[in-house]
Amino acid sequence: MWTPSRRAGIRRLKHGEFKMSAHGTPIPMTAHPSGALSGEAHVPGDKSISHRSLILGAMAVGQTHITGLLEGQDVIDTGRAMRAFGAEVTDHGAGVWTVQGVGVGGFAEPDQVIDCGNSGTGVRLIMGAMATSPIAATFTGDASLNKRPMARITDPLGLFGAQSYGRSGGRLPLTILGARDPLPVRYTVPMPSAQVKSAVLLAGLNAPGETVVIEREATRDHSERMLAGFGATISTELTNEGRVITLQGQPELKPQTIVVPRDPSSAAFPVCAALIVEGSDVLVPNIGLNPTRAGLFTTLREMGADLSYENLREEGGEPVADLRARFSPNMQGIEVPPDRAASMIDEYPVLSVVAAFATGDTVMRGVKELRVKESDRIDAMATGLRANGVAVQEGADWWIVTGHGMGNVTGGATVQSHLDHRIAMSFLILGMAAQKPVSVDDGGPIATSFPIFEPLMAGLGARIVRTAPQQG
Ligand code: S3P
Repeated sequence: MWTPSRRAGIRRLKHGEFKMSAHGTPIPMTAHPSGALSGEAHVPGDKSISHRSLILGAMAVGQTHITGLLEGQDVIDTGRAMRAFGAEVTDHGAGVWTVQGVGVGGFAEPDQVIDCGNSGTGVRLIMGAMATSPIAATFTGDASLNKRPMARITDPLGLFGAQSYGRSGGRLPLTILGARDPLPVRYTVPMPSAQVKSAVLLAGLNAPGETVVIEREATRDHSERMLAGFGATISTELTNEGRVITLQGQPELKPQTIVVPRDPSSAAFPVCAALIVEGSDVLVPNIGLNPTRAGLFTTLREMGADLSYENLREEGGEPVADLRARFSPNMQGIEVPPDRAASMIDEYPVLSVVAAFATGDTVMRGVKELRVKESDRIDAMATGLRANGVAVQEGADWWIVTGHGMGNVTGGATVQSHLDHRIAMSFLILGMAAQKPVSVDDGGPIATSFPIFEPLMAGLGARIVRTAPQQG
């Protein structure tokens, strides 16, 4: 069977041998204008929760059982890293995994470099988790990850007593010497980042006493919820300073049975496609609507999208619904409230595609974090949208997409995905509703977060094809 998650990282060499590469052979893809989309889209497990399940499972004493794990390359890389630190991580097939943890403070020193591939979440959370143990580890990633800022993690880890040695600007490859006698930390996160918050909390696990993390703007709270689920003593208080999260260090984490909910960030793609492809009616079942993640859906509804939450219920303490998205010819651009940015930070690329089919301007401010994701997402989307006939203005932390109205986007261009899964998928959605096909130079990165994207979209009626024969 074709497994995109593995294929994307494999390059055929001259004499027929295969080698894993940091970045596989590019997989060009083209999306053709599509007829009405219909049916159910069963999207994979949540990427953020999948990473955290493996990492906290590795820090518990005993066996954690996970179902619905996202088997994207990012998460597979985190599983491999947890093995390198001494946990027994077993793939039982069909999203069922077990992790035999080594306990807080029980990590072994890896004997190889830890390659986190494309994943900022993976590398940043793992650096936090190991930084308060007396071991050394060297981290690297692909060309995208090795450009991304890491000082935002190594600065607070230094307060615990960890030392780090990286490339200029705090870039990977980077070595961390974990603190032998870690100190607890009180840290205000300088930018809205769940990864930084989570790295500090995970480091705080093996420090004595109370570690306190303060965030001025609420970001996704999966780490806090999951730490509480694993038996840590953790509390969150809303104060004038923001959210003050207090964690008691050196708990014994108890293994858990985790059912990973489906990823709202992946649901965004079939939902947005249905809104802009004439005649569509698509159901995306079982999507978590945790308020720290659901900002896109609120925004789309404010723009006039025909998007309903069916069968709204609670599962595992989180709101969950089946999303029904129907073709919405009369959407209007809006000003997205900047204080909503963290709850939809990964969804701005696909929102900008929907905005191109609305009328009027969609204004997105307070989003400078978009410039340090897997790619500079403002630049990548602005360049590709313009090439496809859409007007975009941009500044350091804002951008505005001028809508052309339904059916009025020309398309026809090939754009670069810059090793960024969400850029690739966003432009393929654009091509489904534009007048002419839209191509991406490399759809390979889609396998990092949404390995079943192509068959899932094809099942709804989309025409997304691989445009050049693959080497190997
Ligand atoms: C994530 C946090 C966000 C998000 C990323 C996943 C997480 O990154 O963009 O895809 O799982 O904590 P930042 O913390 O850099 O905002």
